[in-house]
Amino acid sequence: MRLKPIFALMSLALAIPRVLVYTRTLGYRHDSIPTAIATLSSNGPTHSIEFEFTEDPTQFADENLSRFDGIMFVSTSEEVLNGPQQDAMARYLRSGGVYVGVHSASACLYNDTVYLQAVGAYFDYHPSLQPATFIRLTSHPATSPLPDRWTFTEEVYYWRQDPRNQSATILLTVEEGSYINDAASTGNYTFGSPHPIAWFIENPQYGGKVGRSFYTSLGHTNETWNDGIFIAHVFGGLKWALDGATTRAYGAGVVGNNDTVANVSGSVSGTSAAASTSASPVSPSGPASQPSSGAQGLSVASAAIAAAAGLLTIL
Ligand SMILES: *[C@@H]1O[C@H](CO)[C@@H](O)[C@H](O)[C@H]1NC(C)=O
Ligand SMILES: *[C@@H]1O[C@H](CO)[C@@H](O)[C@H](O)[C@H]1NC(C)=O
Ligand SMILES: *[C@@H]1O[C@H](CO)[C@@H](O)[C@H](O)[C@H]1NC(C)=O
Ligand SMILES: *[C@@H]1O[C@H](CO)[C@@H](O)[C@H](O)[C@H]1NC(C)=O
Ligand SMILES: *[C@@H]1O[C@H](CO)[C@@H](O)[C@H](O)[C@H]1NC(C)=O
Ligand SMILES: *[C@@H]1O[C@H](CO)[C@@H](O)[C@H](O)[C@H]1NC(C)=O
Ligand SMILES: *[C@@H]1O[C@H](CO)[C@@H](O)[C@H](O)[C@H]1NC(C)=O
Repeated sequence: MRLKPIFALMSLALAIPRVLVYTRTLGYRHDSIPTAIATLSSNGPTHSIEFEFTEDPTQFADENLSRFDGIMFVSTSEEVLNGPQQDAMARYLRSGGVYVGVHSASACLYNDTVYLQAVGAYFDYHPSLQPATFIRLTSHPATSPLPDRWTFTEEVYYWRQDPRNQSATILLTVEEGSYINDAASTGNYTFGSPHPIAWFIENPQYGGKVGRSFYTSLGHTNETWNDGIFIAHVFGGLKWALDGATTRAYGAGVVGNNDTVANVSGSVSGTSAAASTSASPVSPSGPASQPSSGAQGLSVASAAIAAAAGLLTIL
């Protein structure tokens, strides 16, 4: 049953997209970061995505970044890259690399124009954590798993800019009467209506052979990261961004995973090893979740090799 996504991928490409997940914080640190890492790593094989997790800013150098189809910032805070590292990320994005941001990914690199173009808007403030009702605006892989009105306990972010100014299409908004705005802006900002909560950018404005971008402001708590609907939302957005096919895993571009099927086993077991050192095990619940284990990663790898072998025979 799990083989289906692998077969689907193999018919399109001979490599699994590899995504660098960056969780470095120099300001506020979310205690849900280990849960986020565990959720991403345990669900990666289901979606045929290989994750590497890091808080090491030296990864942001041309050669290192060129191995990745996507960069994912999860709950980062403040100035998590220096100038040359920001420049390397800008070159990466202009080379077709994909950007995905989750939650306080919008609360870092405040003076980086290219980062703003990738993430869409910078965080201003949020009212206290409380239940709120989020409303789906558009049908998209990131929103199709969601109910039309989705009420749960989550932070409602306010912005310093309108992401629509960065060519964003807003996917989710919030019902303003569903929560109490008990905090104040840090400036005199406007961010347009409806209130942006999650969005995608088909053609980010940094130029070059751009890859797609996806951002969601949800993802504050462990409960959110264990919610199957949220997991499907994040993976829907990530897969949509990768499916822009601007990278090597999709047979295009100059960045991304160019390992052929002969190396699939190595790359998938590498993912499991990375996950086991950086993530504490959790038991995610919900339809999109899947237990995490190295053995499972290897069995998926074997399936991928079998699938690829089948394909090669046909070809
Ligand atoms: C969230 O989970 C982490 C472990 O993954 C734990 O350390 C932290 O205390 C949890 N946070 C809350 C609020 O329960
Ligand atoms: C990234 O590349 C630089 C320069 O090539 C190297 O010094 C550094 O160790 C690399 N970082 C990682 C995490 O691989
Ligand atoms: C961003 O730029 C402003 C204006 O030049 C400066 O005051 C501020 O210190 C900078 N912030 C960071 C984090 O570099
Ligand atoms: C959007 O962009 C326009 C023109 O580029 C600018 O005048 C306006 O201030 C921007 N608005 C926001 C909220 O960023
Ligand atoms: C906020 O900005 C708007 C338009 O940019 C302006 O009309 C208003 O006076 C400003 N308010 C404050 C308190 O500065
Ligand atoms: C993959 O890309 C690297 C450069 O990043 C290159 O050295 C290597 O030869 C490529 N491998 C294949 C199989 O194309
Ligand atoms: C497969 O991976 C190994 C080790 O990472 C590397 O030495 C070898 O060149 C790779 N083969 C191909 C075809 O990319």
